[in-house]
Amino acid sequence: MALERVILGIETSCDETAAGVVRGRVVLSNVIASQHDLHAEYRGVVPEIASRAHAERVLGVVREALRGAGVGLGEVEGVAVGNRPGLIGSLLVGVSAAKGLAWGLGVPCVGVDHVHAHLFAGCMDEGGGGGGLPGFPALGLVVSGGHTSLYHMESAVRARRLGGTIDDAIGEAYDKLANMLGLGFPGGPEVDRLAQRGDENAIEFPVSRLSAGSLDFSFSGLKTAALYALRGVPNARADLRGVHVPPSAADLAASFQRAAVGAVVLKVRRAIAQHPGCRGLLVGGGVSANSRLRRELVLLAKEEGLELRLPGVGLCLDNAAMIAGLGHALLDARGWVGDDLGFPAVPTTGLV
Ligand code: KG4
Ligand code: ZN
Repeated sequence: MALERVILGIETSCDETAAGVVRGRVVLSNVIASQHDLHAEYRGVVPEIASRAHAERVLGVVREALRGAGVGLGEVEGVAVGNRPGLIGSLLVGVSAAKGLAWGLGVPCVGVDHVHAHLFAGCMDEGGGGGGLPGFPALGLVVSGGHTSLYHMESAVRARRLGGTIDDAIGEAYDKLANMLGLGFPGGPEVDRLAQRGDENAIEFPVSRLSAGSLDFSFSGLKTAALYALRGVPNARADLRGVHVPPSAADLAASFQRAAVGAVVLKVRRAIAQHPGCRGLLVGGGVSANSRLRRELVLLAKEEGLELRLPGVGLCLDNAAMIAGLGHALLDARGWVGDDLGFPAVPTTGLV
């Protein structure tokens, strides 16, 4: 990397108001103000509540990130903001704040794709010199509440989509299972914890494969199978009615986790087979915090001789350090020329 500059990142695409400061790929601070308490009673994110909360919190979070990094506003050399994909009202808050700050400071501002930033998160140095860019070309996997996709990456700043979910994202399926079990929101971490105590072979859930060679994902069948396992099959034969014995929550969680993670690993294996020249595997998104997925990806990368970039748990979830890190790489690649300050907020990802 030619220059290591100080970049302020801002992220408000969904329900986390986040700001972070990096120098190059080194994380100096990573502040996340979660809105989970505001949305919990609705068991999902309410867009109107999210954007209002971002507007109230964003500047305070930026101040805290600067203080945590020991960096004065005048030392910021560029501003990066997640400008796609996400809830439009939420995105607009971060985008407007970033433009105002960059304009006032006279530094470049860059719009960053949130999904792309998840792929970059594992390349960050969280203290201790970890991360770093793997060899390219590489494969990328994003597993989150909104996305489950595979990418082919020519470099850290160029990613092409190979496949993605045709229905629910994996995190969404986890959250729906958590809802069925009466756990909190977002429920992925709780299902993961519960699964540690359960029997993964208690229920034979389907591992979705889709057609031969497909790199797409599907989680809606698994979600329905989990519902039926819990509540019984509707319209079952009369002699089966009333005899349904629901499994324990721990057994259900463990069996679900085996099938959900199994489906992801199966598609990563397919992608590796279809792209034999790849040297790295970049993984990110909230579900990359999952204990079983992490274990299986470490084994897979070792077996296949791939350089794995798996972020620490703080950088798996939505955060602004990853936005700042990718923003730095993009600005570096473009000779430190920022976007025109008229750049938009966009609800869909730019990675196609
Ligand atoms: O990346 P993220 O913070 O937000 C999106 O961009 O969607 O991901 C949030 C998702 C939620 O669905 C949450 O339940 C899931 O990540 N998640 C997990 C775990 N930690 C977070 N899912 C399974 N196991 C976990 N340990
Ligand atoms: Zn995300």
